[in-house]
Amino acid sequence: MKKDPSITPYKDHQGSKKEQVEEMFDNISGNYDGLNRVISMGIDQKWRKKVIDLITSKQPKSYLDIATGTGDLALQFAERLPDTKIVGLDLSEGMLSMARKKVEGTSLQQQIDFIKGDSEALPFSDNSFEAITVSFGIRNFQNLEKGLSEILRVLAPGGIFVILETSVPTKFPFKQGYGVYSKAILPLIGKIFSKDKVAYRYLSESASVFPFGEKLNNILQKIGFKQVEHKPQTLGVATIYSATK
Ligand SMILES: C[S@@+](CC[C@H](N)C(=O)[O-])C[C@H]1O[C@@H](n2cnc3c(N)ncnc32)[C@H](O)[C@@H]1O
Repeated sequence: MKKDPSITPYKDHQGSKKEQVEEMFDNISGNYDGLNRVISMGIDQKWRKKVIDLITSKQPKSYLDIATGTGDLALQFAERLPDTKIVGLDLSEGMLSMARKKVEGTSLQQQIDFIKGDSEALPFSDNSFEAITVSFGIRNFQNLEKGLSEILRVLAPGGIFVILETSVPTKFPFKQGYGVYSKAILPLIGKIFSKDKVAYRYLSESASVFPFGEKLNNILQKIGFKQVEHKPQTLGVATIYSATK
């Protein structure tokens, strides 16, 4: 597989990575939740709970979930901290409309705002949020460093930033097993179940080239985040990073 950090969803598409990512998530938004559970075999719920635990331990008054997608993390967070103002931001209207449906007619409508926006140009003033998360979003950013700089800008001093992202197991035999799963099984599941046949190939290719572990820690530190830590999850197929400002 080509080790190209500029991997984009559609090979023949003329648009930027950002335009392609938006289009792809609009296309797959309808069955994203269902396929997500299948692909991760439900383990993603365990990882998400750990992220929520990390954030709730800080009792933030304001919380931003970037690349919120269909809003699962924001919703789970709202259940745990009902007095915290929550914003979920995403590029894709398709994904956001699924998120909005989940809060429609519930009391959460007052607590959570789902807004369209770009992580690389956040529509918030400096130091706006005491907690920020991105789950399975940063590897889709067109410009990772720009996105992370924007996150640092809107994070309040002393606030907490948590990333949940796929990573690649480094030890035998998990490395080899993961290779087979991500290169053969995952794209096949996408091909069979998703309307967008190439989306799941992109998702696995982009995971294989994205910096993880110490490499991502170094990028976070270079941007200016403090107390950067990472914890590999489930044999290293995902990693949780935490940092502050
Ligand atoms: C794999 S989904 C993850 C959704 C959700 N956070 C989750 O954990 O299920 C990635 C999301 O990132 C969003 N995204 C990608 N680039 C973005 C950007 N520059 N700004 C905001 N959202 C972005 C996509 O639209 C998509 O909804």
